[in-house]
Formats: sequence, structure tokens, C-alpha cells
Amino acid sequence: MLIKRLRGWEIPERMATDEKVFLNRRSFMMGAGAIAAASAIGTGGLVNAARAEGDADPTADLYPADRNEFYKIERALTPENINSRYNNFYEFGSHKEISDRAQALQTRPWTVTLDGEVEEEREVDIDTLIRAMGVEERLYRHRCVEAWSMTIPWSGFPLARLVDYARPLSSTKYVVMQTFQDSSVASGQRQFWYPWPYTEGLTIEEATNELAFMVTGAYGQPAAKQFGAPLRLAVPWKYGFKSIKSIVRITFTSERPISFWEQLNASEYGFWANVNPEVPHPRWSQANERVLGENRTIPTVIYNGYGEQVADLYKNMEGERLYA
Ligand code: MTE
Repeated sequence: MLIKRLRGWEIPERMATDEKVFLNRRSFMMGAGAIAAASAIGTGGLVNAARAEGDADPTADLYPADRNEFYKIERALTPENINSRYNNFYEFGSHKEISDRAQALQTRPWTVTLDGEVEEEREVDIDTLIRAMGVEERLYRHRCVEAWSMTIPWSGFPLARLVDYARPLSSTKYVVMQTFQDSSVASGQRQFWYPWPYTEGLTIEEATNELAFMVTGAYGQPAAKQFGAPLRLAVPWKYGFKSIKSIVRITFTSERPISFWEQLNASEYGFWANVNPEVPHPRWSQANERVLGENRTIPTVIYNGYGEQVADLYKNMEGERLYA
């Protein structure tokens, strides 16, 4: 049988959003519906720019933060107006033009629960947390599994600092993060076939690697809502779906979590999801990436160019599917 395999961003929007399509596929079997949903990571277009508006941010005085010059980058920064109009945030729709809808998210007041295998479970107010952690700017690459990329000036703090703050027990092996759940503001969460809330996880070694970064701002300001305000992860050596947005809970545990996309389609999206140009996605190549805003394609680099910082994390793990 000959099946034309579309790359992620070529999938027409009707396939990503038409409920009947999902439901018909679900009638074959659960797994088929899940694969359809997972294949919809990519749809495209650049419209409806919107920056974070409305909720006063009591930490706005921290921006622009001093740049940490260690995290320099040889690529040009992606223009903010391109980045802020092209987002994956399925809570607000399974396509890229969610920026207007995302403005419905109230990012203050906001608390983050630190629980699981920690000395003491706590709920922390976001502004208390941000001031306790401090803010710096880092330039990071961002490589989506759909084979597009950006370069972003994020502001925030190392996840390692937050792990220290949470005081995990020595039994902790994984750090699991969850996004808010409120279908009254995030209509995507009414799409019951997705396993809400969005969940992601890292090993404790990955979480305490110097590169793992908690994002609170971008482009010298508090983060726009479509970027995942008020707290989002950036793990730039992994495909972008690991970088979970609008986090409300961080759980320390000895059990490996099953993340959102893995639950939908484990054969295409795994736990590790490290960038590797030599390991294709089952439906498209990962050898190259489309640079957003530049109208060109460049070769993808192993660990998205961060091998020096992270390759050691994966020594002696040959049995694991490290690149899916
Ligand atoms: N986090 C949540 N809560 N919901 C999402 O749909 N999408 C992921 C990730 N984090 C997503 C998420 C995917 S697939 C990618 S590529 C990045 O966010 C996109 O981040 P960006 O919109 O800032 O480029």
C-alpha cells in the first residue's frame, strides 16, 4: 500500500481539528485515534500575534535580566513577532495560531506545588519562587520534533536551583511536571481524547544538568502567555515537546512518568526524545530543520548542538530509545 507521508507541518488543519476525523479513527481502535492525534503536532501559519497582556506581573522589574554569556549562540535570534505567532500549546488548539486564545489564561495569582518524594510538600506562590531563584538570560536553540527550529532569548533560572529548593529525598529518580487544567479557559482541554493535563518528565540527572532551564521570560520581558507563562521548561537538547508550558506541579518520584505524547503514541514519541539527525521520526526525516523566520533549511546536530554538556548523561544506556 502506498501512503503519502506528510511531514508534521504539512498536515492540513482540518486533519488536526476535525473532531469527526478523530472520532472515526477512534472507532477502529483507541491506538489508531491516539496516533491520529499525535500526528497532528504540526499544522502551520503565522497569524494573530499577541503578547502577554492584562495580568499585572509583580516580577516585571526583573527584566531584562543580565545575559549569561556562557550560553552564547552562533545563530541569529528568531524575531519575537515570528515566535509569538507560531506556537504549540494544545490546551488552546491543535494548530499554531493559538496566541490570541492563550491570552485567556490568568497567570496571576499562580502557585506551583512541589510534592512527592521531598522533605516537605509545599505550594509556592510564583512570584516568591521567581524572586528566590533569581533571573538570568540565556540564548537557546529550540528544535521541534516537527523539524523546525528557532533561537530564543529566554529568561529564567536553572532547574537545578529549583530542585535544591524542593529538597528531594535520595530515593527520587524522576522530576515530573504538569500543566494547569481548566477547560473553561483552555478549550483544547475539552478534547477528551488527549490525556490532560499535559505531563512531562526528566531524570533527576537531566533535571540537575546545567542546561535544564525554567523559563519565566523571553525577549527581555516576562514570558508571553503563548510561550507558557508564568513558568515553562526549556531543555534544548531534546525535542520541543519535552519543554512543558504553564507548570503548576512538580513531583519528585522514583517512577518514570508516561508523558502526554508518549501516552498518545509511544511508537512515535518516547520519554527521552533527544535530538538526533540520524534517527528519523517514523513518518519523516530528522536530518534537517526549517529555520523559522529565515526561509532556509539547515542540518540538524546531535543533541541539538549541546552534546558537550549532555552526552555523558546517556553513557551505557544502549537499551533505551534515546532519540524518540
Ligand atoms: N506544553 C503544553 N502544556 N502544551 C503543549 O501543547 N507543546 C510542546 C511544548 N510544550 C506543548 C507544551 C511542543 S510540541 C513544543 S514544540 C513546544 O512546547 C513549543 O513551544 P513554543 O510554542 O514556545 O515554540
